[in-house]
Amino acid sequence: MAFKLVPCLFLFFLFTIASGDCETAKGGPDYPPQNPKPDVNYKDITMVKGVCARLYIPKTATNPNQKLPLVVYYHGGAFVSFSAFLQPHDDFVYSLVKNSSTIALSVEYRLATSNHPLSVPFNDSWAALKWVASHSSGQGPEEWINKKVDFSRIVLLGDSAGANLALAMKVGSKKLKGLNINGIVLIHPYFWGSKPIGSLEPREADKRAQGDGVWNNAGGASLGLDNPLVNPLVDPKLANLGCSKVLVFIAGEDIYRDRGFYYCEALRTNGWKGKVELVETPGEKHVFHLNEPNSKNTQDMLHRISSFLNNA
Ligand SMILES: *[C@@H]1O[C@H](CO)[C@@H](O)[C@H](O)[C@H]1NC(C)=O
Ligand SMILES: *[C@@H]1O[C@H](CO)[C@@H](O)[C@H](O)[C@H]1NC(C)=O
Repeated sequence: MAFKLVPCLFLFFLFTIASGDCETAKGGPDYPPQNPKPDVNYKDITMVKGVCARLYIPKTATNPNQKLPLVVYYHGGAFVSFSAFLQPHDDFVYSLVKNSSTIALSVEYRLATSNHPLSVPFNDSWAALKWVASHSSGQGPEEWINKKVDFSRIVLLGDSAGANLALAMKVGSKKLKGLNINGIVLIHPYFWGSKPIGSLEPREADKRAQGDGVWNNAGGASLGLDNPLVNPLVDPKLANLGCSKVLVFIAGEDIYRDRGFYYCEALRTNGWKGKVELVETPGEKHVFHLNEPNSKNTQDMLHRISSFLNNA
């Protein structure tokens, strides 16, 4: 691994390249997979102007009548960094597609940078779902999606800030014709708030500053730290989630751990009708799955997501 994805997100080492129709951080469609992907076909596509994606399909998907679930993946990076095309994210999605035999769309949303307000990654994430929905009658621009996707089995997946993007798609309150989102997977969601919660969340000023800084640096200062996009616990519509199941991963050594835990508790106690699964990985750090792709804990995570997808 050439570099580690550091969860403290004051890293502005990535630069933005505008390449053709697609605006992307370092990487981009000219940045093909770094590891051979023998079991999966992929292609890089432009969904709408400025918003690209890498689409993955297992090579075993040859039966013309067999439809597969689609997982829509939103990478993390504090809203301001990383890319669907970076090796750790590409490898992770590849492993998931291979193990779960599903199709994946890894969304290259535009980052919140000096050129774009924080609403851009959220709006682009929504535009990607609208684009997927445009295929539901078999008439969309992308044949793999027209032919192979089971539109009744769509799952959203995100890690870190990408989990916030996935959750913000307000499944249920905004319907997209033809699309049934039946599950959401949140890996180490970047949930935070103005005040410490529970007994374990850090109170130390430096750790609070780290959590606050992610949101504020991305342009969230004017929205405040108790906006539902970063603090879903205060969302009065928390229980309106319109999918039937949610899977949340938390990591034992992650400062965002407790918020993930309390989010699951809130879903359970606030009258949400779906099923919530919580998986804690003790001793692990934020987004360990990207840094340790071959570890047992990452493999366990992949299998857990695979079974979630296949029971979608
Ligand atoms: C996914 O991984 C599990 C555990 O290693 C394995 O049992 C299963 O066969 C794998 N599935 C595929 C399709 O590779
Ligand atoms: C994002 O979408 C919202 C709601 O449609 C809109 O008000 C806002 O202007 C959009 N942001 C950008 C930067 O386009």
